[in-house]
Amino acid sequence: MSYLLDVICPACGKTYPADRPHNLCSCGSPLLARYDLERAKRDEALFDNGFGGIWRYHKLLPVKDTANIVTLGEGGTPVLEVPKMGNYAGLEHLYVKDEGQNPSSSFKTRGASVAISVLREFGVTDIVMDSGGNGAGAWSAYCRRGGLNAHIYMTAKAVQANQKECAIVGGDVNMCQGHTTILGRKVSESMERHPDWFDVRTMHEPYRVEGKKTIGYEIVEQFGGEVPDVILFPTAGGVGIIGIHKAIQELMELGLADKMPRMVSVQYEGCCPVVQAFEAGRDTCEVWSGPMDVIPGGLSAPKAFADRLLLGILRETGGTAVAVSKEDTVRHWRHMAQSEGLFVNPEGATTLAACEQLRKKGWLSGDERVLCVMTSNGIKYDELVREVPNLITE
Ligand SMILES: Cc1ncc(COP(=O)(O)O)c(C=O)c1O
Ligand SMILES: [Zn+2]
Repeated sequence: MSYLLDVICPACGKTYPADRPHNLCSCGSPLLARYDLERAKRDEALFDNGFGGIWRYHKLLPVKDTANIVTLGEGGTPVLEVPKMGNYAGLEHLYVKDEGQNPSSSFKTRGASVAISVLREFGVTDIVMDSGGNGAGAWSAYCRRGGLNAHIYMTAKAVQANQKECAIVGGDVNMCQGHTTILGRKVSESMERHPDWFDVRTMHEPYRVEGKKTIGYEIVEQFGGEVPDVILFPTAGGVGIIGIHKAIQELMELGLADKMPRMVSVQYEGCCPVVQAFEAGRDTCEVWSGPMDVIPGGLSAPKAFADRLLLGILRETGGTAVAVSKEDTVRHWRHMAQSEGLFVNPEGATTLAACEQLRKKGWLSGDERVLCVMTSNGIKYDELVREVPNLITE
C-alpha cells in the first residue's frame, strides 16, 4: 500500500486524482505527488517492512500494489566520508553518496524504477523520452525488465558506454545530433504520431522525481536523522535537487529529520543556465545560447524545465548555484581516485570543485558537514580517461 493522496501543482495548487497517470498541470507546471503524512506518522513499520533498496520506502512512493514493482536492486548506495578529499578542499567533514553503485551505474535507475512501476500499474505500454545518456541506459533496462516499450531520443554526444548499453539492452533508441531542446522536439513530434505513448521527459510527469527522492531519504537515515549542513548536486534538469528537497521536507513533517540543508546546484561554466538565473535573481532560466562546452555526460541541458521549482529551492534553503571549469573538474575527479580510491563520474566531480570554490569564498565554513552526490560511475567515461594524460602522477 501507499500513502499517496493525490498529485498537486506547486504553482497553482490544483490537485489531480491518484488513480490515473498524469503529465503536466493545465497551467503548464510540473506536478508533484502528495502523501497522507499524518497517517504515515502513525505507521510503526513505515520503512522496516521487508523490502530492500529504494523499495523500503514504498509506502511513500506512488505504487499502490507492490506486485507491480519493477526493480533491478537500485538504491541502498553508501555514504562515504572522504577525509583526504575534504582536506584538499579545506573541509573537515566531507562526504559523498556514491550513486555509481546502482544498477546501470547511475542514479537514474531510481527514477526509472519508480516511474516504470507506476506506469505499469496504470497499464501504460509505451514511454517516450530524450536523454543525455545515463537516462537512456537506465530507462531502456527498466522497460525491458517491466515489459514496456522504450522510445528514446538520445544525443550522439552521449558517452560510448551508454550507447553500447542501449544497443545491447535494445528498445527503440534513436541517436540524434543536438542537445536536449532538439531531442525534446523529436519527442513532441513522435507523440503527435503516437498519442498513446507516455511522455516521461524530465519533470513532465510526477513519478520519476519520487524515485530520485529516495536519495534524500537514504542520506537522512545514513546520517542518523541529522541532516548534513549542505548538499551539492550536479544539475541539469534539477530532478535530483527537487527530489532530495522533497524527501527531507517529508521527513521533517514526519519528525524524522532535524533540518533542511542548504541545497547547491553545480554546472559547468560552459552550460550554466541555472547559475546565471540564480546570480541574476531571476525565477526562470534563459535558454543557454552560448557554445556548449562541457565534458560529455549529463550536464548539457540548455534550460531546466522545472526552473521555478529548482531556483525556489536554492533560494529558500539558503543555498546557491555554482559554475565550475572543466579543468577544475578533471583535477578533482583525478584527485578523488588517487587519494580515496573512488572512481567517480565527472559530473559528480563538479561538486567537489564547487566545494573548493565555496570554501575559498567563505560560503562554506571548514567545520560544516558537506555532502556531494556522485551521480554515476567513472568506469562509464572511457573517452575522458583516454583524454587525460599522466593519470598516474599528480
Ligand atoms: C550523471 C548525471 N549527473 C547529473 C545529471 C543531472 O541531473 P538532474 O537532471 O537531476 O539535475 C544527469 C542527468 O541528466 C546525469 O546523467
Ligand atoms: Zn498548475
